[in-house]
Amino acid sequence: MNLVLHVWRQKSVRDKGRFETYPAVNISPNMSFLEMLDIVNEQLILAGQEPIAFDHDCREGICGMCSLVINGVPHGPERGTTVCQLHMRHFRDGDQITIEPWRARAFPVIRDLVVDRGAFDRVMQAGGFVSINTGGAPDANALPVPKVEADKAMDAAACVGCGACVAACKNASAMLFVAAKVSQLAHLPQGQPERDRRARGMVAAMDHEGFGSCTNTYECEAVCPKEIKVDVIAELNRDFRRAALK
Ligand code: FES
Repeated sequence: MNLVLHVWRQKSVRDKGRFETYPAVNISPNMSFLEMLDIVNEQLILAGQEPIAFDHDCREGICGMCSLVINGVPHGPERGTTVCQLHMRHFRDGDQITIEPWRARAFPVIRDLVVDRGAFDRVMQAGGFVSINTGGAPDANALPVPKVEADKAMDAAACVGCGACVAACKNASAMLFVAAKVSQLAHLPQGQPERDRRARGMVAAMDHEGFGSCTNTYECEAVCPKEIKVDVIAELNRDFRRAALK
């Protein structure tokens, strides 16, 4: 396959940035999107040019680091798929592909396609954990959790914290991310002692970091590579209201 890439290039957080056009030639349809970018970068390096900076770690859909907006859609055209799991066979020979970083005030662009997602870390530090001693694995097995609750906790725990929900939302809202993290623990006995404090703290941190409000457009659910449902947002709203009244 031969493709034409329109890639966002930005030297630093202060640089204005601009699109640059690059050819991607002899690309195998079996390559992942990131492997295609690796090939383009090798060609740029051979030509003495700066390679395109982009984030990745596991390349297995686990870490949530790969964060590209492809043709206007966070993580690209395939539902329930991270960029690293997106394969070139979903594109056609001769396609023009636009590649941008996440766009949100709370995620400043550090370089090219790499953004600073430290805001998510700070939201997690505001309550996305349990601080009680939960013991080792045998203790955990001794504490029965109803199957339906365990399933809900596991579904929410699938969130990899990539930030696609923020990038897709016109308000740059982080509600799907925060709600998944709150819901994951709200369905487990270990999450109960700090449940109210968690909901209040994480919502306050989310607002403090500059994420916008949720207006129920569901764009977040549509682009989530782990297909987290907006139901968790309703759960967070219930938890937050109850905690605020106490
Ligand atoms: S690189 Fe880890 S999820 Fe894509």
